Formats: sequence, structure tokens, C-alpha cells
Amino acid sequence: MSSHPAPPDAGGIDRLPVTLPRLADMKRLGEPIVMVTAYDFPSAQVAEAAGVDLVLVGDSAAMTVLGYETTVPVELDEMLMLTRAVRRGLKTPLLVGDLPFGSYEGSDEQAIATAQRFVKEGGCDAVKLEGGGTSVQRARAIARAGIPVMGHVGLTPQTATVLGGYRAQGRTAQRATDVWSDALDLQGAGCFSLVFEAIPAAVAEIMMQRMEIPVVGIGAGPSTDGQVLVFHDLLGIREGHGARFVKRYRNIRDDMVAGVTEYAADVRARRYPAEDHTYSIDPDELERFRAQLTEHHTGAYDFMS
Ligand code: KIV
Repeated sequence: MSSHPAPPDAGGIDRLPVTLPRLADMKRLGEPIVMVTAYDFPSAQVAEAAGVDLVLVGDSAAMTVLGYETTVPVELDEMLMLTRAVRRGLKTPLLVGDLPFGSYEGSDEQAIATAQRFVKEGGCDAVKLEGGGTSVQRARAIARAGIPVMGHVGLTPQTATVLGGYRAQGRTAQRATDVWSDALDLQGAGCFSLVFEAIPAAVAEIMMQRMEIPVVGIGAGPSTDGQVLVFHDLLGIREGHGARFVKRYRNIRDDMVAGVTEYAADVRARRYPAEDHTYSIDPDELERFRAQLTEHHTGAYDFMS
């Protein structure tokens, strides 16, 4: 396997690790916060080199890298394995681990134990959980156990069935009030930050008036303190159309398919490997090697005869 040196950090300068006070300052100063998901060592290195502020090992990994239909089936141990790989690729951004479905809802004890595994085994700085209701209590318990928690309201994919599918939330006055009160409850429970997902921009803007903690939006318009996108969506690594809010900055998948197709064609046409891709040996050594082989063979024949 060939390995190339990691690209330099964004701007070529060493940045200070992002901390919770730094994020709070960014909100206060009106500096946009950039968050992206990552699921492995190379995607973490890309996030590091691009200079993002927060990296989320999202349970979207279930779909983007593990091939599940939804986020629901992904196991805690699968998430931890991905998280450890991301940790190894990061120095600067704050690392947030996403608690998968079924790993925190049961009790405060379960939620704390799972969050601790993300910190101890995954090297996370913080964890994220989805929804209001009992999640508010779980968020409070995790925060009290000394682990920073990020809440997530609006479209919460782990409970998409209850929400009527993968669709925007808060589009009626009642539903907007529900989302708003979940956000306030999570803020009151001690979350250091929230994600607003797939809610009308006008609703998010009103909600932001009461938000004292940094809010990162995805499909929630421009009023939030920052934005998050799924790595595979923004780079076009995943097949198919993303949600309305996804902006594709690249179409890497097309390049990947083209590259592997070319490689296959080269192998089949015996164009690869070429001289450039092969190792040489000193001609004298090669001659000696040939001679040794002949001796060996002769010996073998002698033995057999
Ligand atoms: O799992 C995920 O990627 C997320 C982000 C969309 C916020 O929760």
C-alpha cells in the first residue's frame, strides 16, 4: 500500500484545538461555526486539513458507510470502531460522537455508560443525542456526569417513523411550538449546543432568539450559529439525490467510479503495471539469483533421481 503525507492544515498554520468556550465565543462574536461528519481516518484528515470547527461521527454512518437503510440498526460497537478511526485523524476540531438508537433511551444509567464509552474508548470530547421528551432527562444526566452533550431537534432520523418519515418538521404552528419547546428544554438541561434539522428557516429564526448556546443547523436556514453537512452528501460520494438542504460541492463518486473503471481496463489490457510501477534489481544480483535457482533445481532433480 502506498501512503502519501497528510496535506497541511488549512492555511498551513497550526490551529488551537477547538474548545467549548471557543464555540461559545464564536456564537457571541457572530463567527459562523462549521461542522461536518466524518466516519474514518481519511475523512477525519480531510476535515482537519479543511479547518472545520466540529466533527461529528454521525449515526448517518449507518447509511453512508455501513450500507443500512436507516440509522436505526447501527450498533454501539460499530459506532465506536468508526469513532476511534476518526479520533486518530483529528487534532483540532472538537469531536462529537452520536449516540446510536437504543444506546441511551432506556435509563439515565444506560445513557451515562454509553456516553462514557464514547469518551473513554472513542476519544470524543462530547456526545450527541436526538429528540426531546425523555432525551431531555438523559441529556441532563450525561451533562451532570461531566460529559458535554449536544441536543438535536426537528427531524430526528432515529424516530423518523413517529415523525411521519424523513420530512421537514415544525411546519404547523403546533409542531413548531413542539420543536421550540424541545430546544428550550435541552438548553435548560445543560446541552452545550444543539442541532436544528429540517425546520423552516422562519421557525428557526424565531427559535434562535431564545438560544443562548451555539446552534448548528442542517436544513434550518441561515439564522443558526453554524451549519453541518454529511461528508458523503457534500462531496457527492453517496449515490442518489440528497435532501433539499444538501449542497453538493463535488461529485467525488463519479471520479471514484471513473478511476476504478480505468484501472480495471488497464489491468485487462495489460497496460498496468508499467515500468514506472515496478521495482528493479541489480543485474549481477539477478544473475546470482538465477544461478542459485539452477543449483536448487539440480539438487532437487538429483534427490529425486
Ligand atoms: O448523523 C448525522 O449525520 C447527524 C447530522 C445530520 C447532524 O445527526
